[in-house]
Amino acid sequence: MTGEVLHQNGALLRAVRADITTLQVDAIVNAANSSLLGGGGVDGAIHRAAGPELVHECRLLGGCKTGEAKATKAYRLPAKCIIHTVGPVWRGGGNDEAALLASCYRRAIGIAATRELASIAFPAIRTGIYGYPPALAANVALTTVREALLAAPGIREVVFCCFSAADLALYEAELIKR
Ligand code: AR6
Repeated sequence: MTGEVLHQNGALLRAVRADITTLQVDAIVNAANSSLLGGGGVDGAIHRAAGPELVHECRLLGGCKTGEAKATKAYRLPAKCIIHTVGPVWRGGGNDEAALLASCYRRAIGIAATRELASIAFPAIRTGIYGYPPALAANVALTTVREALLAAPGIREVVFCCFSAADLALYEAELIKR
């Protein structure tokens, strides 16, 4: 099951239910922690699938602040590049969480545009272990990506990669809004 819609600049926005490590896109985004040295959830899955060279490259990056993003090679993954970003821990919503989460999406799109990558896939950043409410996070994701794409005409496809049927339903609803 998938949902898709065209952005005003012609890019395709799609929601799919999949394991992000299997996607054939130019860049996949990792919901990392500030050490960038791996962890559980989607981060663990990406490190396992990419292979041990990934953590070696990540060690050279010196970590990553919340709301920022850094790129590495994708090693054994079908993608060309992994963009690691660190979302905020959800602490009730009054601690700049939405702005920091938006920054993750904006920075990742910015890196993809700078590297002239045409397609990028995002997981539902911070909605797992770190507890960002999934519906609020999906709204931040779609709103921010739509805005960021206006300045990134080279990006032709953005995939919102959902792990659960419930997340896919949320993204499909966000895609058809407005
Ligand atoms: N493909 C796509 N989505 C996935 C996959 C996968 N293979 N595996 C899980 N998800 P989480 P966070 C979904 O917990 O909340 C790590 O320890 C998952 O169902 O992976 O940002 C890091 O090192 C959920 O919808 O990330 C950090 O410390 C979404 O990905 C911390 O967890 C995000 O869930 C990050 O926590």
